[in-house]
Amino acid sequence: MGQTQTRQHKRRNCQKRVTLSSRTSRSASGHTNAHEVTVRARLETHHRAVCLHLLELLRRTAVHGESNSVLIVGPRGSGKTMLLGCVLRELMSLREVQKNVLLVELNGLLQTDDKIALKEITRQLHLENVVGDKVFGSFAENLAFLLEALKKGDKSSSRPVLFVLDEFDLFAHHKNQTLLYNLLDVSQSAQTPVAVVGLTCRLDVLELLEKRVKSRFSHRQIHLFSSLSFGQYVDVVRAQLSLPPDFPDPKFSDEWNHSKLCEDKTVEEILRRNFNGSKDFRSLHSLLFLAVSRVSVSHSTLREADLIEACRLISADSKANVLHGLSILELCLIIAMKHLNDTYDGEPFNFQMVHNEFKKFIQRKSHSIHKFEKPVVMKAFEHLLQLELVRPVDSGVCKVQREYQLMRLMLEHGQVMEALQKYPQCPTDVKQWALSAFG
Ligand SMILES: Nc1ncnc2c1ncn2[C@@H]1O[C@H](COP(=O)(O)OP(=O)(O)OP(=O)(O)O)[C@@H](O)[C@H]1O
Ligand SMILES: [Mg+2]
Repeated sequence: MGQTQTRQHKRRNCQKRVTLSSRTSRSASGHTNAHEVTVRARLETHHRAVCLHLLELLRRTAVHGESNSVLIVGPRGSGKTMLLGCVLRELMSLREVQKNVLLVELNGLLQTDDKIALKEITRQLHLENVVGDKVFGSFAENLAFLLEALKKGDKSSSRPVLFVLDEFDLFAHHKNQTLLYNLLDVSQSAQTPVAVVGLTCRLDVLELLEKRVKSRFSHRQIHLFSSLSFGQYVDVVRAQLSLPPDFPDPKFSDEWNHSKLCEDKTVEEILRRNFNGSKDFRSLHSLLFLAVSRVSVSHSTLREADLIEACRLISADSKANVLHGLSILELCLIIAMKHLNDTYDGEPFNFQMVHNEFKKFIQRKSHSIHKFEKPVVMKAFEHLLQLELVRPVDSGVCKVQREYQLMRLMLEHGQVMEALQKYPQCPTDVKQWALSAFG
């Protein structure tokens, strides 16, 4: 019996998810045109339908007093916050909504427990004075009091409240999931019109909810996934780089907007690499931001070189950067390790082997490097260990003396060579030693 019920319940949920798309198309054709136009202008195609669906859902709460709950699920940077922001702006621009709706925004990273969350709800609803020093028996009592207090102004109808829970999954870690339970419970009952909108990047978010919480959720989910093709991605780059029509200098903006930058082969390659790495707009923005920040009065157009430099800065290897700050002795040890890696085909080495390799170099080839005492070399080696450029093979309890402990170099051949090229005033014999095939 119980199983049949669960299955029926699941089927109902699935049906709800399927109807999402049909409802979306209905709302796309049936809803006020002015809103669609603005929303359309702001969002690219695959977010549009979702945006209109969410707008319609929240409008039903705000105007008709229908309670609702919905989850927006998508990876980081997929535009969840942007989507909701856009929808809320649209919603608040409706005259019948403006004065009526109350918005409460919570974030799982800030409201780390339900007590803090409740305080924040009270603050955002401007009910601190009403609550005063009252002591409540339970969370539910407190929330009910708050929602009741909202009714006082006009007894005939209560004001709809939109609860936005960013990082929704973090609220599931609160004790007994009290906040989620109570909010979703209110959204299911006819007491006060409430819409609960959760934003999360966890696909499995429903698995985190307790049974009693899950059963109170409407199971409406909006999934945001980037299905952009490379062509569309380049269009977005073009759009993001263009100056708006109301730019004060039309001649300049005309020239700027007609730039053929995106057609350049190198630029296309950079964009493709970025696109293949991650399609999210956050990383694209940081790339374009770095490129645009190189524009100045003396060079007022965006050039291919700016994007190449931005790409270089963004993909700069943090480990290779650490190498620039090393002393010559530490660098020599890295080279010795590189040679050991070449000789022994990547097998782990110990300090003694590195020291021997280094001594061989000093005796045979070097004129510019001092002879260092062993403890000094050991100190340098330990510094490399601290920087995690070398790591012990066995990180467990080690009974071997430090000198004989097996280590691995955490750098690639290319990283070492690149760092050497850029190292300021690197002695020539050290460079040659690094270039030579075998130590
Ligand atoms: N479809 C899109 N078109 C244009 N820009 C977008 C799009 N999606 C996201 N962005 C941009 O990407 C950036 C990140 O988006 P947003 O903050 O909405 O992501 P998020 O899903 O909320 O991420 P997080 O999970 O980290 O909160 C924003 O600057 C936003 O303007
Ligand atoms: Mg966000």
